[in-house]
Amino acid sequence: MSPAATADGMSDGRSDFDLTGKICVVTGAGRGIGRGMAEGLARHGAWVVLTGRTRATLEEAAEAIGDHAIVETADVSKEADVLALRDAVLARFGKIDVLVNNAGVNAIFKGIERTSLQEWQDIIDVNLTGVFLCCKYLGGAIGEGGSVINVSSVAGHAGLLRSVPYCASKGGVELLTKGLALDWAKRGVRVNTLAPGWVDTDLTHGLLEHDVHGKRLLDRTPLGRFASPRDMAGGVVFLASDASAFMTGQSLVIDGGWTAG
Ligand SMILES: NC(=O)c1ccc[n+]([C@@H]2O[C@H](COP(=O)([O-])OP(=O)(O)OC[C@H]3O[C@@H](n4cnc5c(N)ncnc54)[C@H](OP(=O)(O)O)[C@@H]3O)[C@@H](O)[C@H]2O)c1
Repeated sequence: MSPAATADGMSDGRSDFDLTGKICVVTGAGRGIGRGMAEGLARHGAWVVLTGRTRATLEEAAEAIGDHAIVETADVSKEADVLALRDAVLARFGKIDVLVNNAGVNAIFKGIERTSLQEWQDIIDVNLTGVFLCCKYLGGAIGEGGSVINVSSVAGHAGLLRSVPYCASKGGVELLTKGLALDWAKRGVRVNTLAPGWVDTDLTHGLLEHDVHGKRLLDRTPLGRFASPRDMAGGVVFLASDASAFMTGQSLVIDGGWTAG
């Protein structure tokens, strides 16, 4: 039976993973996981709007993707930027089908006693308030059949050492997602999270390379390697597409088995 075969054995000739004609906005798409996801969405036929704060990296990513990528700069923690982003996408395409809230930071690894209010706020502003703002304005413009994918983390499911603001932000994203999934089910808009394990990017490279800490993390990963951004692409295509049409309010954990033990 082909992947697109229907229950009565007939094929509609189209893969459930096909994103042809879909307009997908990906935040934090200039590098790392966001770039890997944008590339995956474009490989399946989508138009991708790459957004982040740094135009140069966004343009480099867009050039690698080709025709179906455009660049719009925005800081997701700033309401005016997110509104301007929504207006620019709607002016260009007239619709939004998929929103991937991937932009995120984790600047600190230290105990709460040494964490300042400003450091807490800086992480919450991007990782949680940024997701709120993008859902409110960009997600609010998504029509029936659309999908929102919030990038959480294994730190949204279990604690990580010396990372209280990050864990709080990702735990918040997990429950923001469930609440919003209930609110938007009647609009026909699905809302899920994708929760990566350890992925080798600018955010984590120093830690993953560390003789002691990196080795400890690797030893705890059943599949025996760290992920690459491309390892996250299949999951986001699944959540963006009709292949996951009956899934909302859930978390897709892609962690090499980290949370299985
Ligand atoms: N790497 C991992 O192991 C891992 C594991 C679990 C979850 N995650 C999550 O996955 C997401 C991507 O992480 P990554 O590892 O790919 O990190 P990364 O390589 O540091 O990329 C982060 C991206 O977010 C953008 N960004 C940061 N602050 C922003 C803001 N205020 N407004 C708009 N864009 C902003 C950055 O671009 P600009 O600086 O140009 O704005 C960059 O494109 C994050 O949410 C992270 O928490 C990562």
